[in-house]
Amino acid sequence: ALERTFSIIKPDATKRNLTGVITAKLEEAGLRVVASKRIQLTLAQAQEFYGVHKDRPFFGELTEFMTSEPIVVQVLEGEDAIAKNREVMGATNPAEAAPGTIRKEYALSIGENSVHGSDGPDTAKEEIAYFFSGLELVG
Ligand code: CMP
Repeated sequence: ALERTFSIIKPDATKRNLTGVITAKLEEAGLRVVASKRIQLTLAQAQEFYGVHKDRPFFGELTEFMTSEPIVVQVLEGEDAIAKNREVMGATNPAEAAPGTIRKEYALSIGENSVHGSDGPDTAKEEIAYFFSGLELVG
């Protein structure tokens, strides 16, 4: 089915000027960028966005990293966009990511892993609504 998913190009990637090559990989996979903006998160925003991870040992590291440089938040649309995006991102840990995936090619570590993508339809909806208004989504 035609779906929308939420994507982040993370600080390690924006800092290395990888916004374009990562976006190209997403587009080559058949995903259309229907919304995109470059922002810098406050610590409060990062803590709210990653709230499900608040009890994890890496929560402090994760939220500080996500506020360290600008990020690019995007909404991607396509057939099975959620699964397709996860496939092109590759495994969370770049050491385990398949050849040709974004994380295999560009990620530095499990934390500095270049991209985020929604893990399911409910989180996609929530994450899109956190960053974008309906008017900003142009299919
Ligand atoms: P993301 O898809 O953005 O969602 C949660 C993030 O937590 C995940 O990508 C990783 O970048 C990060 N993460 C997961 N495990 C670890 C870890 N052991 N150390 C640091 N960050 C982690």
